[in-house]
Amino acid sequence: MDSLHIRGGRPLNGQVMVSGAKNAALAIMAGCVLGEGPIRLQRVPFLTDIEVMSAVLRTLGVTVARQGDSLVIDATHIDNGAPPYELVSKMRASFFILGPLVARLGKASIPLPGGCAIGSRPVDLHLKGLKAMGCEVVIDHGTVHVTAEKLVGAPVYLDYPSVGATENIMMAAVLADGRTTIENAAQEPEIADLAKFLNGLGAKITGAGTDTIIIDGVKHVTGGEHSVIGDRIEAGTYLIAGAMTRGRVQVQGVPIDAMGAILSKLQEVGAMISIDSPESCTVFGPDFLRATDLRTLPFPGFPTDLQAPFMAMLAVARGTSMVAETVFENRFLHVDEFQRMGAQVRIEGHCAVVQGVPALTGAHVQSTDLRAAAALALAGLVAQGDTVLGKLHHLDRGYENFDGKLRQLGADVHRLEAAPLTAG
Ligand code: UD1
Repeated sequence: MDSLHIRGGRPLNGQVMVSGAKNAALAIMAGCVLGEGPIRLQRVPFLTDIEVMSAVLRTLGVTVARQGDSLVIDATHIDNGAPPYELVSKMRASFFILGPLVARLGKASIPLPGGCAIGSRPVDLHLKGLKAMGCEVVIDHGTVHVTAEKLVGAPVYLDYPSVGATENIMMAAVLADGRTTIENAAQEPEIADLAKFLNGLGAKITGAGTDTIIIDGVKHVTGGEHSVIGDRIEAGTYLIAGAMTRGRVQVQGVPIDAMGAILSKLQEVGAMISIDSPESCTVFGPDFLRATDLRTLPFPGFPTDLQAPFMAMLAVARGTSMVAETVFENRFLHVDEFQRMGAQVRIEGHCAVVQGVPALTGAHVQSTDLRAAAALALAGLVAQGDTVLGKLHHLDRGYENFDGKLRQLGADVHRLEAAPLTAG
């Protein structure tokens, strides 16, 4: 497997263009199943998660073609509502096609996503919404079978504002008979982008991006075009990198109004922020970083996907920080690897107590999940000496051209491709 080699100690300086948001693109690709007619999606990042979703769609009879940074997707002729376990098990977001598939075909069978590194991640809320709309749900041999003679709009209250459940239910409701209201919906900007995309195809959705989403069902939706919003998590990662290396980094092509929590937390550790336009901002790293407490929450709270990268910064801040992870139950897998680099972090239940140290030391470390991989790379940027980050397939799921973008900012980073194993 490939590895990332990082020589620490260089401040990052410069500008970086953010890619299209992985989480928006994945949901929108699932939403393409609803459309009768070709759909052109622009600004779709080159990521392995996108390849997996493309492969899942192809098993349904959907055509998916790459044209530069665009995908052309056509789901006019779907002939299968049961994607295979081997593909679906690679990525939880595959489950997001359940709602649109049932809406299009009246039935779908999807293997349960099962556990993953960062927690058990159930799908009860997805299914609760579909049942409210008249679906029959049977779980048999690890697969969810959903059938609906007719989807009927209904009020759905989510016990927790799950991103995936909100998206799944919203997509199913697009072709339901009548009005669906999702209360306590997730408010992430990627959900608003999905709704904007669907409305462009002829759906009738209002309120996406707030905690109440109203979907008035339509008979069918067509093809169309959409450009995916910028990735606020990727942008946040580069801003943190700029702050912790005492550099100056401008991120471009991302909605700054979706980044309030991360920008506030960067200011709390002593960084300065300048908002340069609605789609770009610059971080100025402080001479020394101050400790601060952090709690992950659904949007507009601090995103769980930036918890690990932010902790890398707190590991070298002055003082003690408390990091509370409230979204996922087991998202501190990076801590063991941080400790190998000299970080002082203690886990107590769903909290991590981070005692900042003057410097980290480079080491061989392994990625444990996508965001942990980015966090370890950031730690390597400020560590003394060399860091070698393994299991890069985690990073490739969600960061397009990560090493190239860091190099552009002045980091001493390169990727080593693993030599193929030879027999004998
Ligand atoms: C999405 C994002 C992921 C992000 C997460 C939280 C995508 C492709 N992924 O994941 O990057 O970290 O939102 O912002 O968009 N839950 C239930 N029952 C359910 C569904 C979820 O209990 O039916 C729980 C989960 O176990 C978890 C919490 O809700 O503890 C949040 O999960 P959810 O918002 O659904 O995350 P995903 O949509 O999987």
